[in-house]
Amino acid sequence: MIKVAPSILSADYVNLQKDIEKVDKAGAEYLHIDVMDGSFVPSISYGPNFVKAIRPITKMVLDVHLMVQNPEHILPAFIDAGADIIGVQVEATQHIHRALQIIKNGGVKAEVVINPGTPVEMIKPVLHMVDQVLVMTVNPGFGGQKFLPETVAKIAELNQIKQEKGYDFDIEIDGGVNNETVVDCYKAGATVAVAGSYVYNADDPAERINALKEATK
Ligand code: DX5
Ligand code: ZN
Repeated sequence: MIKVAPSILSADYVNLQKDIEKVDKAGAEYLHIDVMDGSFVPSISYGPNFVKAIRPITKMVLDVHLMVQNPEHILPAFIDAGADIIGVQVEATQHIHRALQIIKNGGVKAEVVINPGTPVEMIKPVLHMVDQVLVMTVNPGFGGQKFLPETVAKIAELNQIKQEKGYDFDIEIDGGVNNETVVDCYKAGATVAVAGSYVYNADDPAERINALKEATK
């Protein structure tokens, strides 16, 4: 069964605490927080103070996805804010190894993220040091986009390396995930599914979380 990480990008910001409690009660393992800088991606969302504000109101694993150009400088602020996992996009830095070191030295789980157009080859040199790899299944920047099926082969490729080398990182997928698209990703080796609009643009988010789990039994 896949672990579920609802993305609060699609939540109701005015009633955020309620929306977080809903997915917590429904058994979601992570809370996915999308940080967008208006440069690496066109949109701007929220920063470290947002994570700091959420930290005391939930025990959920805070899974912070940085869509931020040159993230090195801002990493300490997210570490201090109480993130449990911090993901950096390999395309956003010339120093991916250093960025992951900063996260790990801060006592936080380190994640590397690859866009749909980025080959798995790009992250091979850092796979020994990560706790999670995020394979983007849409181009980052917006919720509610259509799943890109060509990304499934990359999940399988990554999973093969994981098995061969005996690594134990989680493989997360993000973008266009629903109870249908999650199935092939799970079969290919995905262990964590981010879902924004599928969970939050529904009358009953709990039912949607359950459907993702049922589809990957
Ligand atoms: C996209 C973000 C996602 C987004 C997913 O750039 O990284 O986490 O919230 O939204 P859905 O699940 O609606 O595609
Ligand atoms: Zn995300």
